[in-house]
Amino acid sequence: MTKDAQKTFTLTNNESGESWELPVVEGTYGPHCVDIRKLLSETGYITLDPSFTSTGSCKSKITYIDGDKGILLHRGYNIKELAEKSSYLEVCYLLLNGELPKKAELEEFTGHITMHTMIHEQVKAVYQGFRRDAHPMAIMCGVVGTMAAFYHDSLDIWDPEQRRISAHRLIAKVPTLAAMAMKYSKGQPYVHPRNDLNFAENFLHMCFSVPAEEYKLRPSLVKAMDRILILHADHEQNASTSTVRLAGSSQANPMACIASGITSLWGPAHGGANQSVLEMLDEIGSVDNIKEYIAKAKDKSDPFRLMGFGHRVYKNYDPRAEIMRESCHEVLDELGMKDDPQLKLAMELEKIALEDPYFVDRKLYPNVDFYSGIILKAMGFPVEMFTVLFAVSRTAGWISQWKEMMEEPSLRIGRPRQIYVGEAERPYVEMKKRK
Ligand code: SDX
Repeated sequence: MTKDAQKTFTLTNNESGESWELPVVEGTYGPHCVDIRKLLSETGYITLDPSFTSTGSCKSKITYIDGDKGILLHRGYNIKELAEKSSYLEVCYLLLNGELPKKAELEEFTGHITMHTMIHEQVKAVYQGFRRDAHPMAIMCGVVGTMAAFYHDSLDIWDPEQRRISAHRLIAKVPTLAAMAMKYSKGQPYVHPRNDLNFAENFLHMCFSVPAEEYKLRPSLVKAMDRILILHADHEQNASTSTVRLAGSSQANPMACIASGITSLWGPAHGGANQSVLEMLDEIGSVDNIKEYIAKAKDKSDPFRLMGFGHRVYKNYDPRAEIMRESCHEVLDELGMKDDPQLKLAMELEKIALEDPYFVDRKLYPNVDFYSGIILKAMGFPVEMFTVLFAVSRTAGWISQWKEMMEEPSLRIGRPRQIYVGEAERPYVEMKKRK
C-alpha cells in the first residue's frame, strides 16, 4: 500500500531564497515520488515534462513494471506465471477485481462475458459505411465508440453496477467487433459467437470459420491465442491507457473512453509496432541487409527505427517478448514453419542489434511487439489485424484502469498546464496595413 508521506523534499528558489517542503509518496515498489499537487498554489511555479518521463499521473494497484529487471506484475502476480498457468479471462477478472477468482467466481464471470458476446444486429449497418479496404483499426475506432449508441442502459458512470456491465460488455464484445472487422475486410460473412467455446476458441472461430466447411480448432493455436491475449492485457500508464484515463476524467462514457484508447494504440510507436515490425522485416528482406538497416536505425538523420525495439520503461528484456519468442517457436514448429524466413531474420536481427553498442548503451531490447507479428501471421491473421488483436486484449486493462479511476474518492478532470512561448499580446492589424 502507498504509505502516507512521512518524508519531504525541500524545494528552494535560489532567486528569492524561499523554500517549500513537498511531501514524498512511496509505493510498494518503484521510484518514490514528490507530490507536487500544491506546487502552483504554494510557489507559483509549474513543472514541465512533455512526454511524462518523470511524471506519475495516478496511484494504481493494477500493474507494476520493473524496467531494470524486466519484471511485469499484474496485481502482484508475475506475467511469466500468468502466461504459463492462467487464462485470459482469469487475468481479466484479476485486473478488474484485484484477486484471482475462486472456481465459482471464474465460472460466474465467464458466464457473464459469454452472455455479452453478441452484437446488436444494427451495428452491422455501421460496418457497411466503411470501404472494404479500410484499415480494421479505423473500423474499430468507429464501431467501439458506436457501442455507446446501442447500450444506453449501462452508461451511468456513477453506478457501480452499470460500470460492471459496461466492463463485461466491452471485454465480451470487442472481440466480436474485431472478428467482424476482419471478415468485412475479406468480404466473408460474419461468424456469430458460440457459447460452447471458450474465449480464445470463440475468437479464432469468429475470425477463421467460413460457412463452406467446418472450422477445426487446433489446441496449440488456441493456447497460443490465449497466451497472446494474456501478454497484452495491461501495462501501467502507457499512452493508450493514459488516453483512456484522461477521457474518463471528463466523465465520458466507458465505450467512448475505450474508443479513445484504440485510437492512441494505433500509432506505430505504440501498439501499431507489431504491424510495423512485419513491414520492417519485409523491407529488410534478407539477413545480408541487416547491417545496412542497423546503420539506418542509428542514423539520426534517418527516421527509420528498429520497430519492436526499445521501451520507455523496460531497460532490460521485455518479459513478454521472451514469452512471445518461446510461443513463436512452438507455433511455427507446430505449423511446420520452423524454418520461417521472417523468424530467422528476426532472430538474426535481434542477435546483431544486441551486440551493437548503440543498442546496448541505450538499453534497447526487443519489446512485446517484436515477435508477436510473426506468430500472428503464422496463425493466419492479416498484418492489418495485429494491432486490432492488441486492442482486443488491452480492453481488459483499459477498462480496469478506468474502473480504478472511477472508484477514486474524487474524480477530477485531467487538465495539464503549459509553458506559453508564443507572442506577447499585440493589437489587431487591419488588412490594408499588413505588409
Ligand atoms: C508498446 O508504454 C508501454 O508500456 C507500451 C507497451 C504496452 O504494452 O502498452 O509496452 C506497448 O508500445 C511497445 C513499444 C512499441 N514501439 C516500438 O517498438 C517502436 C520502436 N520503439 C521506439 O519508437 C521507442 O523505443 C519507444 C517509442 C518504444 C520508446 O521511446 P522513448 O522512451 O521516447 O525513447 P527515446 O525515443 O527517447 O529513445 C532513447 C534513445 C534515442 O537515441 P538518443 O537520442 O539517445 O541518441 O534510443 C533511441 C532514440 O533514438 N531509440 C531507438 C529506438 N528506440 C529508441 N533507436 C533505434 N531504434 C529504436 N527502436
